[in-house]
Amino acid sequence: MNIVALGIDLGTSAVKCVLTRNGQVIGTGSFDLRVSSPQAGWSEQDPADWIDAVQRAAQSAIQAAKISAQEIGGISLSGQMHGAVILGADNAVLRPAILWNDNRSIAECAALLQRLPNIGEIAGVPPLPGFTAPKLMWLKTHEPEVFARIRTILLPKDYIALWLSGERSCDRSDAAGTLWLDQSARAWGPELIAASGIDAAWLPPLHDGCDPVGTLTRHAADALGIAADIPVFAGGGDAAAGALSIGAASAGKCFISLGTSGQLLVVDNAYRPNPGQYVHAFCHTLPGLWYRMAAMLNGARPLSWFAGVLDCSVTELLEQAECANPARVPLFLPYLTGERSPHGDPDIRAAFYDLDDATGRPEMCRAVVEAIAFMMRDARDSFGDSFAPLGPIPVIGGGSRSDLVLQTLANALDHSVARTSGGAEGPAFGAALLAEVGLGLRSIDALSFDTPLTDVFEPCYDPLLDLRLARYRKFYQTLKAGI
Ligand code: XUL
Repeated sequence: MNIVALGIDLGTSAVKCVLTRNGQVIGTGSFDLRVSSPQAGWSEQDPADWIDAVQRAAQSAIQAAKISAQEIGGISLSGQMHGAVILGADNAVLRPAILWNDNRSIAECAALLQRLPNIGEIAGVPPLPGFTAPKLMWLKTHEPEVFARIRTILLPKDYIALWLSGERSCDRSDAAGTLWLDQSARAWGPELIAASGIDAAWLPPLHDGCDPVGTLTRHAADALGIAADIPVFAGGGDAAAGALSIGAASAGKCFISLGTSGQLLVVDNAYRPNPGQYVHAFCHTLPGLWYRMAAMLNGARPLSWFAGVLDCSVTELLEQAECANPARVPLFLPYLTGERSPHGDPDIRAAFYDLDDATGRPEMCRAVVEAIAFMMRDARDSFGDSFAPLGPIPVIGGGSRSDLVLQTLANALDHSVARTSGGAEGPAFGAALLAEVGLGLRSIDALSFDTPLTDVFEPCYDPLLDLRLARYRKFYQTLKAGI
């Protein structure tokens, strides 16, 4: 059992590599990436930078683990979802990849919904501008010369798989975020493809996460110092691979993620679409499993944004928020970059309301913390009665480091939440576990486990909560109408 697995996560801000032996992390490495925004609302990266970052992050992980690279027996991947990597003949990159947080295709989303009004039922969620299909519709109109040369469309992590193995591939959990996957059939959906005007031949073959897509080419092996011919496994989108990092691999497992973005994710053994609330009902990366996810663009990000505005650290912001007079806390809407669940509203923006002479920094800081909790309460309510977790809900991501955030969250949800000692290595760890399954070192069943909970936060009764939540919701409805 000495074989080492390598999990690679292509994040938005960095590539992270995790090496595991027998399910234990033995080394990690990362290398930062930059996002370019050539026009307002655009978000792009050069796939060549990803390949460079993978080599550097893998080298750091190998050095940290103090192993010989030849001990690595298999590789799997995780990555930022919804992006579009556009390839022409000979797999040449035709333009920079368009990322998940790119907003250019708002008009194309409206057109897609008009062409296929029930698209949300088939594809798991109604069209949103970050998703892959509307990006291709935008290209057809705005860059027809590029569109005419397309031979292949890949998700970001699958461009790494192509470099590693020479094979075009995609796993079902990443395909789920394109709007081309029929989630119920777990296959590319012909009517979805036709509605967005692309050629089905441009899409790669589909796999489950622990399926091999090919073996490491001599070229990639030499670049990484790893043995050629070891298997490369399909992996998963970062939401699914992140779920695996805390054992969310069987029906009923759920968790909250509070990173830059925020998610409330519940694993299902059936496809349960809920397009009205922009809950994403997506294939998991394991056979026979789906998940429902409320996906918020503004997770814990408002904390770092407001800390930046105040020119202080997030820790100082949270200390200030502790000192707030609860009776004088204003309202804050956290929608800095528009919002996906539950509003599907790319145009809404953040706002404070109810500022008066007595409002100080502590009260404004507290309003930002409260808004994160209210955003998550909206997420939970969008699942309806079908969401009934038995124990405390594990919370992962940077936002989970704060006691104040977790207590406010428990109060807003009226349900206990808990910090977990698992999940620290995130989706890259989930990818490494998929490689271990692919290598026959663990069973698929062993991917489902109870993540160890450290601190549990029980809800406390807050007499102001219901009224404030109602006003927070009304505040959104009022601003949505436009000013
Ligand atoms: C999931 C989502 C994010 C991105 C970026 O729907 O948008 O998880 O994959 O990390």
